[in-house]
Amino acid sequence: MKAFTNNIFISLLLYYASLEVFATTEPCALRTTKYGSVCVCNVTYCDYLEENDILPIESDDFAIVSSSKAGLRFSYLKGNFHQESIVVEDAPKHIELEDSSKILKQQNSDAFIFDDAVIKINRNVSYQKIVGFGGSFTGAVSHNLDQLPEEIQNHVFRSYYSKNSGISYNMMRMPIGGCDFDLKPWAYNENPVNDVNLTSFSQLDERDLYRLSQIQKLKEISNNYDIKHMSSAWSPPPWMKSNNDWTGFSSLKKEFYQTWADYHLRYLELMEANNVKVWAITTGNEPLNGVIGWMFVHFMSLGWTPKNQAIWVGENLGPTLKNSKFKDVKIFGNDDQRYTFPTWFKLMERTHENSTSYLDGLAVHWYWDMFFPPNLIAKTHELYKDKIIINTESSVGDKPLETHGPELGSWDRGEKYANYYMEDLQNWVNGWIDWNLILNDHGGPNYVNNFVDSAVIYNNDNTEIYKQPIFYAIGHYSKFLPEGSIRIESSGNSRNIKNVAFLRPDGNIAVIILNKKNKLVKLKIVDELRGNIMISIPPRSVHTLIFK
Ligand SMILES: *[C@@H]1O[C@H](CO)[C@@H](O)[C@H](O)[C@H]1NC(C)=O
Ligand SMILES: *[C@@H]1O[C@H](CO)[C@@H](O)[C@H](O)[C@H]1NC(C)=O
Ligand SMILES: *[C@@H]1O[C@H](CO)[C@@H](O)[C@H](O)[C@H]1NC(C)=O
Ligand SMILES: *[C@@H]1O[C@H](CO)[C@@H](O)[C@H](O)[C@H]1NC(C)=O
Repeated sequence: MKAFTNNIFISLLLYYASLEVFATTEPCALRTTKYGSVCVCNVTYCDYLEENDILPIESDDFAIVSSSKAGLRFSYLKGNFHQESIVVEDAPKHIELEDSSKILKQQNSDAFIFDDAVIKINRNVSYQKIVGFGGSFTGAVSHNLDQLPEEIQNHVFRSYYSKNSGISYNMMRMPIGGCDFDLKPWAYNENPVNDVNLTSFSQLDERDLYRLSQIQKLKEISNNYDIKHMSSAWSPPPWMKSNNDWTGFSSLKKEFYQTWADYHLRYLELMEANNVKVWAITTGNEPLNGVIGWMFVHFMSLGWTPKNQAIWVGENLGPTLKNSKFKDVKIFGNDDQRYTFPTWFKLMERTHENSTSYLDGLAVHWYWDMFFPPNLIAKTHELYKDKIIINTESSVGDKPLETHGPELGSWDRGEKYANYYMEDLQNWVNGWIDWNLILNDHGGPNYVNNFVDSAVIYNNDNTEIYKQPIFYAIGHYSKFLPEGSIRIESSGNSRNIKNVAFLRPDGNIAVIILNKKNKLVKLKIVDELRGNIMISIPPRSVHTLIFK
């Protein structure tokens, strides 16, 4: 036991029955950093939690996987419904902390107890189905991986995409051409200009060919060939645009509406010729950046109003794709912030009756979610019940008062992710694709210095990668909610102890629990079919509870 002196805590420990505590197969090599702690991987070591350490689960048993501000990272323990109570002990013994005294002190002052939290699971009421989770393979990611020894690249691939030992990503977003996270702006067929037949777009750019070879490696190393690829264009070549530039106030020139649709079709053909089946495209990244955002956003964009986009989708992109051999490639609309939901689609529909019917899905970004409530998504779902909703971009560090780049070890940032994934999942979102898979220690490269944080960061001398709290926050969802998991009703009675529950395809229930309180929380989980679980979870922590 840790040196807790708090009386209440000790008395709580007294009545915890026999329980098995396990270290993860390859536990996190935790290092204390300026903002908290990270898990360090190098050429010879990286932490992995094997799925078969957790599953299968017998009918009276449960497993709980935990991460916390103090330093738990996918630690797990198993118990059963007959036990009186279980305690998730914070900051496990097997971890050597560089500055453990500081962490323990902090725990002591925080370790008073909040003890009337209840979560009720109701299997009778169900909601949306999970499509998946993923990250983005930008030009910056391609460049970053290239700096690292092969063994470390492999740790990145396996950590994210392995179904058994990683966090089981099954989706990947990729720019068509460049984006801000690249060494410079680029697009296909920049020359010749005004070329409606896209004569120079006859093969993939060498940057894409290189990226696809890396993605092939990723699939082999993670043994995951079942990845849903989503592609989005940030900007066409400047000659198609009203301002003949990469960024700024712009629109697509009317005479190139069909050319821009053909451009997408050509991309799909060339991707297929290079053995990548694209699952979906979006109608373009953040259309409002070229309409109202251009004063703040200085990277590649194409401005669209809902009206113009309705015409392009209804007359050009929709018919072009749906009448081609790529008719099964899904089209996702909007690909912009939550505040445009659902107005954007209503305005599209008002302009062109068939525009939204070409959309298989709706893509939303998370950047201003603190100001716009999640029920905007729920309202959109009410209007478009048959459409998949995916959050297609998230990162922290873009706001004026934030650190523009990584905060190594920041639990606050991890908790932000845990919180917003939960909020979206509670409001009909079917999946989430995070932004860059790996960034350097400045949060780049980015050709306009728009540096942000990422779930995985690598160091300046290319010898280590750091799995941030963000990585585990996402993993508490992605690793345990395979495609086809169905959200079921769950309710809680405390604002800072949030939860969301799913019925997995294997019949297990997975409940993600977020404790935002600076307190040890004694929690009762009630499942009508199985009984009650009494469990104490540490301050500032996130958990996935699994039972039959
Ligand atoms: C790699 O990490 C492991 C585990 O933390 C450590 O024992 C080993 O010394 C590290 N290797 C190098 C070269 O730093
Ligand atoms: C769920 O459905 C079963 C069978 O119809 C019923 O017995 C039970 O009371 C329901 N539970 C809840 C919480 O509504
Ligand atoms: C584009 O191709 C079509 C058919 O091959 C041809 O008739 C047309 O002249 C070409 N347009 C230009 C501008 O090259
Ligand atoms: C919408 O689709 C229907 C059925 O395909 C078609 O008859 C109609 O003309 C289309 N409307 C427009 C504005 O293109």
